[in-house]
Amino acid sequence: MAAPLAGVRAVVFDAYGTLLDFASAAERSRDLLGDRAGPLTELWRQKQLQYTWLRSLMGRHADFWQVTGDSLDYALDSLRIATPDLRRRLMEAYERIGPCADARDALKRLKAAGIKIAILSNGSPRMLAAAVRSAGLDDLLAETLSVETVGIYKPHPSVYKLAVDRLGVWPVEMGFVSANGWDAWGAKAAGLRVAWCNRSGLPRERLGEPPDVELTTLAELPAALGLP
Ligand code: LAC
Repeated sequence: MAAPLAGVRAVVFDAYGTLLDFASAAERSRDLLGDRAGPLTELWRQKQLQYTWLRSLMGRHADFWQVTGDSLDYALDSLRIATPDLRRRLMEAYERIGPCADARDALKRLKAAGIKIAILSNGSPRMLAAAVRSAGLDDLLAETLSVETVGIYKPHPSVYKLAVDRLGVWPVEMGFVSANGWDAWGAKAAGLRVAWCNRSGLPRERLGEPPDVELTTLAELPAALGLP
């Protein structure tokens, strides 16, 4: 049987949660946060995504750095742990976020096989450049694409279309990989060939056509692309 993503020549990755481990930001302040690091990461991320969707619906775009700071303020307030020092440390850590454990090896295997690799993310260009460098992934990427070019957040179809326009391959030759289910379903709705990296075994989204393949780790991606 053919591999689900056979024939793909360029692979575009989501950044936060897929290649970049956003939980590492709060982990670095565990000395101040203790057991609240986990709940803070969860609430911060939930609010961050909600604000992207809400701002897109409201027609009030603000870049991901602002949205990340606003959602952090909400989360710190909600957990009643807001201090200027903690906020500064967490935002600094978000710029120097670590890689997901399976990211670098998977990217190296794709690059060695001649696959063009890019990022397509909500992140602002400055945030992405800093994070990709500190995660040690910059040497593996051909392009880092930001939603700032189109001025609206995922899962708006114009975001996924940006990757098709920029990468110089036919849509059927482009794969998209995200660990965020809603992002994987969004890319599928925009007509891409999609792998959902479902590391934590979450249920499938009920958002229409499912991704082409579900992985449990990025280590399974080369096989999904039919690479030896
Ligand atoms: C991104 C968010 C969705 O990197 O994780 O686009």
